[in-house]
Amino acid sequence: MHVLSVSSLKGGVGKTTVTLGLASAAFSRGLRTLVCDLDPQSDVSTGMDVNTAGKLNIADVLTSPKEKTVRQAIAPSGWSKVHPGTIDVLLGSPSAINFDGPHPSVRDVWKLEEALAMLESEYDLVLIDCAPSLNALTRTSWAASDRVAVVTEPGLFSVAAADRALRAIEEIRRGLSPRLQPLGIVVNRVRPQSIEHQFRIKELRDMFGPLVLEPQLPERTSLQQAQGAAKPLHVWPGESAQELAGEFDMLLDRVMRSGRIPDPSDTK
Ligand SMILES: Nc1ncnc2c1ncn2[C@@H]1O[C@H](COP(=O)(O)OP(=O)(O)OP(=O)(O)O)[C@@H](O)[C@H]1O
Ligand SMILES: [Mg+2]
Repeated sequence: MHVLSVSSLKGGVGKTTVTLGLASAAFSRGLRTLVCDLDPQSDVSTGMDVNTAGKLNIADVLTSPKEKTVRQAIAPSGWSKVHPGTIDVLLGSPSAINFDGPHPSVRDVWKLEEALAMLESEYDLVLIDCAPSLNALTRTSWAASDRVAVVTEPGLFSVAAADRALRAIEEIRRGLSPRLQPLGIVVNRVRPQSIEHQFRIKELRDMFGPLVLEPQLPERTSLQQAQGAAKPLHVWPGESAQELAGEFDMLLDRVMRSGRIPDPSDTK
């Protein structure tokens, strides 16, 4: 089971969009996929068309990651009406904000990992949509992950923001979870004709080399349309949506190639 956090310390750069795009790619490929909504805004739960009636959610899981609680917090995505396959969501909740303090205890930081360990044989891929901060929720997510995709826009502050995120990942790798590694930087909302964007992408490449993932994702209204309709991008009509779907396929290849690194201290 691969576990990927989709993160950025900045808000609104496309974390949820990348999570949804990768989930759509994984679903169309037939991978058994779980999307964890760790953002109190719960956007990814909305984008995946889940019925939350009678369900528990991530706040319950972080209170007590017992197997029964974890299972009751997982719902099938409405995407599974489009074609058969396993695409589930660990439901988000505004109450998750109560678990996002600046100084989480070590025990709290490992709770999601504990929950996901119970599902190890049931999913091929877990994608975690993170909140835009480095507080407890993001650390909880990273402690449960093998890799982190850092999402950024090609803007003035993007180099500094990506640098901060990569340093934070390194800090958590050293202090908490040796198996954690950056997958790389996903550059989102690129306007290929923009000289400014070309300049920023070059700047990112000069600084981070191969950590800047290919392909970069263009700005497209078809993405917003698929999200608005709560449908997977891969079934959205039109050339632009299909081009983007192909780009998410390539990013997913990269995720699935990044094998889990054995961690000698991983005896839990
Ligand atoms: N490549 C893109 N093309 C067009 N619109 C995009 C693209 N990426 C993101 N958007 C739009 O930008 C907005 C913000 O994106 P998104 O919600 O994915 O960011 P986020 O990082 O998850 O935000 P938050 O920090 O609030 O969780 C959304 O309305 C989304 O549809
Ligand atoms: Mg989001």
